[in-house]
Amino acid sequence: MIEFDAVTKRYPDGTVAVDSVDLHVPSGKITVLVGPSGCGKTTSLRMINRMVEPTGGRILIDGTDTNTSDPATLRRGIGYVIQHAGLFPHRTVVDNVATVPILLGWRRKKARQRAMELLELVGLPPELSDRYPSQLSGGQQQRVGVARALGADPPIMLMDEPFSAVDPVVRESLQDEFLRLQQDLGKTIVFVTHDIDEAIKLGDQVAVFQAGGHLAQVATPPDLLADPADDFVAGFVGKDRGYRALSFTPADGLPLEKEPTVEVGADAEVARRTSVEGWVLVLDDARRPQGWLDVSRLTGEDEVTPTVLHRGGTVASATGSLRGALDAALSSPTGRGVIVDDIGALLGTVRPAQVLVQIENAAAEAEARH
Ligand SMILES: Nc1ncnc2c1ncn2[C@@H]1O[C@H](COP(=O)(O)OP(=O)(O)O)[C@@H](O)[C@H]1O
Ligand SMILES: [Mg+2]
Repeated sequence: MIEFDAVTKRYPDGTVAVDSVDLHVPSGKITVLVGPSGCGKTTSLRMINRMVEPTGGRILIDGTDTNTSDPATLRRGIGYVIQHAGLFPHRTVVDNVATVPILLGWRRKKARQRAMELLELVGLPPELSDRYPSQLSGGQQQRVGVARALGADPPIMLMDEPFSAVDPVVRESLQDEFLRLQQDLGKTIVFVTHDIDEAIKLGDQVAVFQAGGHLAQVATPPDLLADPADDFVAGFVGKDRGYRALSFTPADGLPLEKEPTVEVGADAEVARRTSVEGWVLVLDDARRPQGWLDVSRLTGEDEVTPTVLHRGGTVASATGSLRGALDAALSSPTGRGVIVDDIGALLGTVRPAQVLVQIENAAAEAEARH
């Protein structure tokens, strides 16, 4: 556990970057520091590994005041990832990642082996290992940055806006992989971002900072959405809070209806006979939904081909959230939301009204627990 105990940082020019912050960072979890630019997030992060020294208060790691630790020893147990990956431009990818093991005294061959394992862990193809950082995309560079920070297998990782400089699609896949990786690694992570959606997606707990280095609220993502501490937090968390909170309500227990289906390649006449209200759901041979078919589009066709399918509806997983289920129901051209299992095979369909009933039930259960 990392504890901030009344931590203040006043820079020599008089700027108070962090103002008497108390914060508990639990072990093995992701704590996100979020807030507008200049509110003291980076300063808070860099005080943990003593790249910045507090001017007031204490930071304790597992009960020991960091002020009493040797900074070099301290940093060996703390990985650090920054926005533009901070890679050494004149070293290859594998040598960048091997840097820390070599600093720790590993032999070169063993360090490079370890580096290749780490690159695989973060999902970078091995053939990229001999390239230089400038020969990689932004997303690939960030993966290398994460692999390098994991080099010494540190129990703590500090990450300062690691995904902010990549485009939204790449960012989303980096976030998903980061969460998967953390499930296996269980590091104590302090993650800085200015993006509230990223904070809510990644954080086990979220610490919202306000201008002047004030900590405005620390809460789990659903609590932050449900109960912002004040107007600043409410404004920063943004709109659609009720809808976004559905991401944290599991979809299990939805009553599913059996949906008549045909397979790709089915006879057009069979598709017409199977359809309900002019639509039929089309599956592949593994029962994975491929799309809805408006059977009136089949005039002149002998069989159901993928090109005639409607592409608008989303598909939700039964083990996902009610947000996904509601979206599937609302986006479906038939009003019947498509629900699949973990391997993507059809379980059934659900109508918006049934999802709403489930939302009310979940809210009542949550109320009863309080
Ligand atoms: N080395 C420094 N000297 C003086 N002021 C600084 C220094 N570093 C940061 N600051 C100021 O401290 C405040 C917090 O900065 P920072 O921690 O970088 O915020 P954030 O990461 O939330 O954008 C800002 O007002 C910034 O200008
Ligand atoms: Mg910053």
